[in-house]
Amino acid sequence: MESFIMSLVDVASRPGMISFATGLPDNSLFDVDGVAKAVAEVLREAGGAALQYDSATGFVPLRMRIADRCRKELGFSVGYENVILTNGSQECFDLLARMFLEPGDRMVVENPGYLGAIQSFSAYGPEIIGADVGPEGVDTGQLEAAVASGSKLFYSIPNHQNPSGGSYSDPVRTRVADIIRGSGCLMIEDDAYGELGFNGRAGRTMKSMAPEDVVLTGSFSKTISPGMRIGWMVVPEWMREQAGRSLEAASLQSGSFDQRIVDRFLADNDYDVYLQGLRKAYAAKKDFFLDAMEDELPDSVEWNDPQGGMFVWLKTPPGTDAMRVFDAALEDGLVVMPGRPFHVRGGENTLRLNYATPSEEQILSGMKILGKACRDALRYF
Ligand SMILES: Cc1ncc(COP(=O)(O)O)c(C=O)c1O
Repeated sequence: MESFIMSLVDVASRPGMISFATGLPDNSLFDVDGVAKAVAEVLREAGGAALQYDSATGFVPLRMRIADRCRKELGFSVGYENVILTNGSQECFDLLARMFLEPGDRMVVENPGYLGAIQSFSAYGPEIIGADVGPEGVDTGQLEAAVASGSKLFYSIPNHQNPSGGSYSDPVRTRVADIIRGSGCLMIEDDAYGELGFNGRAGRTMKSMAPEDVVLTGSFSKTISPGMRIGWMVVPEWMREQAGRSLEAASLQSGSFDQRIVDRFLADNDYDVYLQGLRKAYAAKKDFFLDAMEDELPDSVEWNDPQGGMFVWLKTPPGTDAMRVFDAALEDGLVVMPGRPFHVRGGENTLRLNYATPSEEQILSGMKILGKACRDALRYF
């Protein structure tokens, strides 16, 4: 199914095509000058050492910065040794699956959930159980049953989920921590969008609530640059060495030149001020996008109002097939993302829309196409 998504990326890059499909940040919000300055300074200061191999687990000053941020912003204390830098946070999923899954083992994912991660786990042959996600977060009854049935891993996105845009409520966080703590099921808390909450963080980190049973994964992809491929995982002490060895076996290390550049960028800029700028810009884009939806889409479809991240989740009436909207929109020059592939079960009537990447002009033209596609495909609703 990932190849279907990659084919959408290809289609979306055709001249004249408008895309609400992919999950890319807005090019115009990258700090090109700031990064250029950081590159020059790293090379001037470190010379050839900046281009050399580094330790498998990553450039220590950057790991110390992340550990510091965990203490100040994410509500838990951790030594830099427990922060492992990876090739994007995507690599964490592969490493964790490699460490903890044998073919046939059970694991739980959110339904719907982030396809890229599920794809990564699937390569290790687990039996995947879906726990439904609603407006308050994961269904804790379904999660509890899946954990009780011996699941080894639970993969989740408690903040501004990809694809549905929602976050866990406080009671759901508390209940999930109670279920996971001491259960033998390791929770992966994917915090890819955690820093992009329009009103700050959406809630306490699961890592702060069940530190021994949760691996938190993070990334600079949605904030500084996905092209640099700098992600990380914060691991409990009991698996630190195993995680380091696993990373070394898989890829020796992630890109240490980029790690130094990001470290320099963070030394020279106030990250909180920088993030505040991003949050404001994405919140404004989201409002613009939702206004266009309100103007152009028929009453028969509904959507949420996300408080962070990059996605709006659209539902066509129950029993309808959103692929028909997808097909009709594609014919007129707009690519959207069908929601079905993000599901273990169900989701035929869903679409994921990215408001972060398109320009205002593209949003206006694309929404007209989407409105027409919805009216054509859902004529009887
Ligand atoms: C929820 C989520 N997690 C993880 C990733 C992987 O990001 P990266 O490997 O660039 O850190 C993505 C990318 O879109 C994502 O949406």
